[in-house]
Amino acid sequence: MGRAVFVNGDFVPEEEARVSVFDRGFLFADGVYEVVSVLEGRLVDFPGHMARLRRSLGELGIAPPMEEPEFLAMHRELVARNALEEGLVYLQVTRGAADRDFIFPPAETPRTVVAFTQAGPLVDKPAGREGLRIITVPDIRWGRRDIKTVQLLAPSLCKMAAKRVGKDDAWMVEDGVVTEGTSNNAYIVAGDTIITRDLSNSILHGITRAAVLRLAREAQMRLEERPFTVEEAKAADEAFVTSASSFVTPVVEIDGLLIGEGVPGPVAARLREIYVADARKSAI
Ligand code: PDD
Repeated sequence: MGRAVFVNGDFVPEEEARVSVFDRGFLFADGVYEVVSVLEGRLVDFPGHMARLRRSLGELGIAPPMEEPEFLAMHRELVARNALEEGLVYLQVTRGAADRDFIFPPAETPRTVVAFTQAGPLVDKPAGREGLRIITVPDIRWGRRDIKTVQLLAPSLCKMAAKRVGKDDAWMVEDGVVTEGTSNNAYIVAGDTIITRDLSNSILHGITRAAVLRLAREAQMRLEERPFTVEEAKAADEAFVTSASSFVTPVVEIDGLLIGEGVPGPVAARLREIYVADARKSAI
């Protein structure tokens, strides 16, 4: 039997997990999601992910389907039922099922809540040791990238463009400056300064980003939150990305040009180590 999956209040075998064809997540991408990493069977940065979920729902005017303690209990139950030691929990909330109409259904329409686990190593991953080779592509997404919606076709197309030319991922570029990676936040290191784009509607407010910047400050590292150009990135000493699924992962090549020596640099390596140690300690 496959995984236990959470669907609208029940834990069911994945073969039996179903949502309606009228679900607005399916018809309109009218839903939001979170991805929480699991280390040693515990949830990493969970309160941050719940705060962002609440914000994403609020920005779309979707009433929260449950309170945070219920979300926590559900995540823990899912981890336990699937004996998940290391991997991810994916959570999606949509506005629910209703006759197809651009106008929202009544607010009391039951939201759809789905969650499932994906097992797999997060700490001991080749990309963490060897780094990513990326390309730059135009950022073709919408104007509210701060809301973590399930409309992921644009990033999917961008990642496929990278895959087609034998690379690992893409950084998206708008007006000559990098917004972020297809599913991660982007950073460069110039001298002793870590540079990452400041928060706005243009990027997702990464939960891992917040933790990594806090840890970098605590370690007295120099930080600048501002947009950076592709040229700056190519001339940088180091580059890296952060996300719940990649933690801190070095970038060693951009558009065919090696970054620094073309191997993971010391700043990214140190931040990865510090982040993983902190995540293990603070996971719940
Ligand atoms: N992606 N930017 C984008 C566009 C993302 O999709 C993500 C996360 C991030 C990093 O956010 P966080 O640190 O909270 O994971 C930044 C998840 C992992 C995904 O779609 O699988």
